[in-house]
Amino acid sequence: MIIGAQWGDEGKGKIVDLLARDSDVVCRYNGGPGAGHTIVADGETTKLKHMPSGILWGKECVIGAGCVIDPAVFIEELDDLERRGISVDVVRLSANAHVVMPWHVAIDQASERRLGTLQIGTTRRGNGPAYADKAYRLGIRLQDLFDPKILRQKIAVALAEKNIWLERVYGVDALELDELAERYEGYAQRLRPFLADTSLLVDRALRDGKRVLLEGAHGTLLDIDHGTYPFVTSSSTVAGGACTGIGLGPTRIDDVTGIAKAYVTRVGEGPFPTEIQGGDQERVRELGAEYGTVTGRERRCGWLDLVALRYAARINGFTSLALTKLDVLSSFSELPVCVRYRLRDGTETADFPAHQSDFHHAEPVYEVLAGWAEPIDDVAGFAELPEAARRYVELVERELDVTVTLVGTGAERERVLTRHEAAAARPAY
Ligand code: GDP
Ligand code: IMO
Ligand code: MG
Repeated sequence: MIIGAQWGDEGKGKIVDLLARDSDVVCRYNGGPGAGHTIVADGETTKLKHMPSGILWGKECVIGAGCVIDPAVFIEELDDLERRGISVDVVRLSANAHVVMPWHVAIDQASERRLGTLQIGTTRRGNGPAYADKAYRLGIRLQDLFDPKILRQKIAVALAEKNIWLERVYGVDALELDELAERYEGYAQRLRPFLADTSLLVDRALRDGKRVLLEGAHGTLLDIDHGTYPFVTSSSTVAGGACTGIGLGPTRIDDVTGIAKAYVTRVGEGPFPTEIQGGDQERVRELGAEYGTVTGRERRCGWLDLVALRYAARINGFTSLALTKLDVLSSFSELPVCVRYRLRDGTETADFPAHQSDFHHAEPVYEVLAGWAEPIDDVAGFAELPEAARRYVELVERELDVTVTLVGTGAERERVLTRHEAAAARPAY
């Protein structure tokens, strides 16, 4: 399992692409069109939304039942990959995945507008309303698209309610049944060849001794149950969610790798204790090119938060960690790392607060590490990193009691250091 350990955009796409080379099947288990995973390979940048990050290697790419799919976005992604000569014959879609419908997008946008200063800062791609309808049992699943009668009936049932909300609550245009039914029947023709029993497929792959990667979208602190609610996404982003999202028992999992940036970013609203105050925030944003993959929004930037990362290690049971974007920190003379939170009553804690108000008011207690001045982009091995950079990585390991097996030193596929001495104990890499 490959899991975002912070608030998303940790570099999951790059790490999954890297590990996909030695895997047979790559599966996305959650999320929808708001996810954006970037791979930089052979001088070309690929941005994926729905597609698992194994596609460039031609690996079997599964989109599990825990995902929500916007067919228009997905088909655009298919077309774009095909135009570039990348085969999409390897794609397998779960018929149980839910469909993001136009009313989900309209409601996501209208409800954020209505919330005003209280908004969540969603990607406005319909993700939350689609998952809400799934839980409400009003959702339309991919399998519904293939029977015109069922599709029309389901759209009609949904519209009877959604159009009242759209027109009377949000003051936007209602949607029209005939146009929608026709459009989605058209999408069905394009999607039909990709449908598969994906849970069975993964089970068979494992029985055949194949290597399967499960790729999460978003990040642990955006998890619907364990994240910083309500400033979260609407799916299960964590290790437990990978099993439900694919339809796989937890006893089948060998490794759970957390992906964390060497600092922290967050897009959208919500508390963020280590958010940098002053000019260094802009400096990190520029050096790390921290702008949203899907929305282009500025990502908020903060110093590494080990309290939150320790929490992520607990919730997910990380067996190893990949620390990405260490190169971005080169040239800072000092690097604050949050090791504890100070709470309102003056006490300090190394554990993530269980109550939202404690978290909202938590102040970071920093240990300030020495930085390093030299660029590390071209460093060939972990031992060749400047001593201060090694110390930075080792502090993370010590505080979390999790081995850092991969260290990112640039956006390109090959810019990653594998810590062989650590990896040797875990033959998976
Ligand atoms: P994801 O959503 O977790 O897949 O992450 P995104 O792709 O949204 O954002 C991560 C960004 O950081 C992308 O632009 C990557 O190309 C880039 N990136 C990943 N790893 C590294 C790294 O080690 N160093 C640098 N400088 N950039 C990286
Ligand atoms: P990847 O997979 C960063 C954030 C949004 C917003 C909240 C809810 O690229 O790491 P949503 O549209 O999901 O209802 O938005 O979650 N968010 C992400 N932030 N990376 C992501 O995905 C995100 N997906 C959602 O900014 O705060
Ligand atoms: Mg992203």
